[in-house]
Amino acid sequence: MNSDQPLTFVHRPHPAPVAADERAARLVDPGFGRVFTDHMVTVRWTHDRGWCDAEVRPREPFQLDPASAVLHYAQEIFEGLKAYRTRNGGVYLFRPERNARRFQQSAERLAMPVVPEELFLRAIEELVKADAAWIPGGEGSLYLRPFMFANEAFLGVRPSMEYLFVVIASPVGAYFKGGKKAVSVWLSETYTRAAPGGTGAAKCGGNYAASLLAQAEATRHGCDQVVFLDAAQHRWVEELGGMNVFFVFDDGSMLTPPLGGTILPGVTRDAILTLAREEGRAVREELYSYDQWRADAQSGKLRECFACGTAAVVSPIGEIKSASGDFVIGNGAGGEVTDGLRARLVGIQRGEIPDTQGWVHKVL
Ligand code: COI
Repeated sequence: MNSDQPLTFVHRPHPAPVAADERAARLVDPGFGRVFTDHMVTVRWTHDRGWCDAEVRPREPFQLDPASAVLHYAQEIFEGLKAYRTRNGGVYLFRPERNARRFQQSAERLAMPVVPEELFLRAIEELVKADAAWIPGGEGSLYLRPFMFANEAFLGVRPSMEYLFVVIASPVGAYFKGGKKAVSVWLSETYTRAAPGGTGAAKCGGNYAASLLAQAEATRHGCDQVVFLDAAQHRWVEELGGMNVFFVFDDGSMLTPPLGGTILPGVTRDAILTLAREEGRAVREELYSYDQWRADAQSGKLRECFACGTAAVVSPIGEIKSASGDFVIGNGAGGEVTDGLRARLVGIQRGEIPDTQGWVHKVL
């Protein structure tokens, strides 16, 4: 793509989109990541042409050469953000430029071409406008999944010379089956998610693939999520399988593990840091050991704990289970700091609370 000439998006509307009554039925209780809209955006990158062939087109399966690099060496990155329908019919995104920048950082770490911020934003806006009828009202939202993968047919181990940047959309409700109810987490003592120098700060499929066995262990123990410790000392709390973690203490202060290359720099994490500081809370980004977590929960010093992420929003953590014993946080059901932060965040995202930080990006 010539940087002074934005790409033209070719529109190929779906010849047979889902009928309005069927769409309404699918929006009633969509769950998370099961229902998809009519369209997708695709943009190609080739070594010779750069970014090219931008299209809004019917959502359909890809044809992939069996030698496509992504199938062998996992050169793939993704993002997650949501479009919200406001009460007066508007459509908002929340800090999409942050996702654009993180997508660029993930691309650099995976030796992939960088998607210019304006192309990333345009691709999302094009899809949201094309599929606006799929944005649920009420507490639902349209989860947008931009991703990019290597599709050169070549088995040598080097960065691919061809990529596809894609955006798909999925109307969603709550990520966890219990909605806003407190979740339980399983401490993985066997597996780690990311090591120093690895890809922990990148949003790449490989990190999630590496978490699945630990997540399956968590599910076997009746837990909703797995929590990982650091790879070097197996001591410091890092993050859950797919979300960041915060701790709330009896003096109103808060703590979250620091970004150090092994933790995903969450957009929601960053927003919570800002909102909590705006409330006058002392918020530390500091190492927190598992032993301290248990001791603080047992002494009552730790009052609340929550997971946060685009998919999870802000979800209270009620119980921690591990091979060496279980413990409960507070009354096991969350608490008012968690609820208050969630309400403020969601209120801003849906245009119901003034957006003093300039986080909201209006699409319609
Ligand atoms: C997100 O919150 O957007 C994620 O990518 C996490 C995943 C568990 C869905």
